[in-house]
Amino acid sequence: MKGILLAGGSGTRLHPMTLAASKQLLPVYDKPMVYYPLTTLMLAGIRDILVISTPADLPQFRRLLGDGQRIGVNFAYAEQPSPDGIAQAFLIARDWIDGEACALVLGDNLIFADHLSALLQEAAARSRGATVFAYRVRDPERYGVVSFAEDGRATEIVEKPAHPNSNWAVTGLYFYDDRVCDLAAQIRPSPRGELEITDLNRLYLEEGTLRVDRLGRGCAWLDAGKPESLLHAATFVQTLQERQGLLVGSPEEVAFRMGFIDRAQLRREANRLIKTELGRMLLEVADHGEPGIHNGFAS
Ligand code: G1P
Repeated sequence: MKGILLAGGSGTRLHPMTLAASKQLLPVYDKPMVYYPLTTLMLAGIRDILVISTPADLPQFRRLLGDGQRIGVNFAYAEQPSPDGIAQAFLIARDWIDGEACALVLGDNLIFADHLSALLQEAAARSRGATVFAYRVRDPERYGVVSFAEDGRATEIVEKPAHPNSNWAVTGLYFYDDRVCDLAAQIRPSPRGELEITDLNRLYLEEGTLRVDRLGRGCAWLDAGKPESLLHAATFVQTLQERQGLLVGSPEEVAFRMGFIDRAQLRREANRLIKTELGRMLLEVADHGEPGIHNGFAS
């Protein structure tokens, strides 16, 4: 399975911070925001990753992430010339996807959960249909909202409803089968002029192949789209890292735990960051950590 990391948009709700910098490159405590969703894809076992961003911001992502060799993944890059919706990613990525199954994660979504890795790998292994994740929020009208029947089946999915029928928001992490590009090509722009990911999910729902996994109250799903949520996310990461001494959202650590890189390579990466606490924590993993033992984001 391949994966798309979508880091477009103009970040208007974070102006002036995002007037001259991409939202998804802003810091969330000690790492660029995009590291967190990147580790989510990696925990699903995905190593072929297409980074999509605006023509202005894409060079910065290239500078940060390179070709991916250091962390045992392959990065490719593509431009989204104008923000015409999340589902447009599958039109942009069509040739790169080349008929395979593909996941997509939004570059501002942080998911933290115990056993997340197992959940993601299960979703990645499903050969037909789509898998999305729902999370209970206080303000569902800001999101795609999914409703459930009494037997737990998803019945309806609506983008930013004025009067939501449930509190279950659809997170910005999606797994699709190998028909995703053909289905995305059927979608027409919504009233707000975007190719909505919710419309793509609805095609799978109507076909009876959309699986909606509910993330429980022990999980954290954060989006860093406003100043206060950016601060909440940073504080969350700091709290866990300082309390546990375990990293949250480190691509280097996840690469080692997932077996994408070996101990020597992790040590090299740690040494590049050695003036930071992050670098010292990575060195600790390189010295004492075991591959395959999952902590934090790597649960
Ligand atoms: C997008 C999707 C929405 C989803 C949300 C998750 O919203 O359209 O369905 O719930 O991401 O972050 P947007 O970022 O366009 O507000």
